[in-house]
Amino acid sequence: MLESSLEFLRCVCCGSKLEQTVFKSDKEIVEGILECKKCNAKYPIIEKIPILWNDFSNYLSFRKKLGGKIYHIIENSTLKQFCKTALLKNDQIGDDRTALEERWSNIYQKSKSSKFYSYIKKNLDPVKKSNLVLEYGCSIGIMTSFLAKSHKTVFGIDRSFTALRFAKKSYKDNLDYVVADFLSPVFGKQFFDLVLALNVLELVEPKELLQHISKQISNGLVIISDPYDFDRGIHSVKNPLDEKSLRMNLEKLGFKITSKTKTPMHIPWNLKLGPRTMLNYDVDLVICKK
Ligand SMILES: C[S@@+](CC[C@H](N)C(=O)[O-])C[C@H]1O[C@@H](n2cnc3c(N)ncnc32)[C@H](O)[C@@H]1O
Ligand SMILES: [Zn+2]
Repeated sequence: MLESSLEFLRCVCCGSKLEQTVFKSDKEIVEGILECKKCNAKYPIIEKIPILWNDFSNYLSFRKKLGGKIYHIIENSTLKQFCKTALLKNDQIGDDRTALEERWSNIYQKSKSSKFYSYIKKNLDPVKKSNLVLEYGCSIGIMTSFLAKSHKTVFGIDRSFTALRFAKKSYKDNLDYVVADFLSPVFGKQFFDLVLALNVLELVEPKELLQHISKQISNGLVIISDPYDFDRGIHSVKNPLDEKSLRMNLEKLGFKITSKTKTPMHIPWNLKLGPRTMLNYDVDLVICKK
């Protein structure tokens, strides 16, 4: 975690500023703890990644294998103890997500050259240099690292520690990543100039995400893409959106949709699942302004 990120991050339990204790650093903080003096919440920084989850033992409850791995990686004894306490407290509630998150991180690695990403990059070229940019569900950082080439400060959030480990492999002094839930107040009341949310509407209640994003933009641009692949059995969201209702909801929130994306778009997004398996989506894109 970059030392400079502290100014932007907030306690996800109470919204207060955080204080940091650094155990190990080189160009950035490798191991440390972020602490909220108001509600006493503590958040670990492990392998340069701050985990701003309201309950770390709950985060590890769904990632027992990951918990074991990071326990062995951590060098500092205080941080190791913090991790051990969380692991001992945890009661696995659902399936372990470790293997799934590893698998998807590998799929994104192999799919970096999908035309989808170059299409979005081309659409980002004319966007004026922004001070503060946020990408929701950045995964391994394909777009976030691109954005950091031309914008001042860029953040990516994702709940997958494994994906962010890939993302953190390349260092940039204006780019940082946080493990956090989309809807948590990880940036408090901070406004952003540019927000991206690519292909995430199936994974969170979409209207809630749009409202959350809307509160973070007073004068800026939002780029949303989605394949509307909402049929996910018990994991399906309650209120899916489609081409029309996505645009309608954005307009209701005060966004103006750019003329180019007023009508539904069809962009191929190809994910390489295995040597002989492709997942081919047809993705819609909306670019809007407030
Ligand atoms: C379908 S992938 C899309 C990745 C990337 N945006 C792209 O288009 O290539 C969705 C990403 O969102 C993350 N994610 C899903 N639900 C989340 C949540 N509630 N909070 C934070 N991250 C979440 C997943 O870990 C995953 O990396
Ligand atoms: Zn707090």
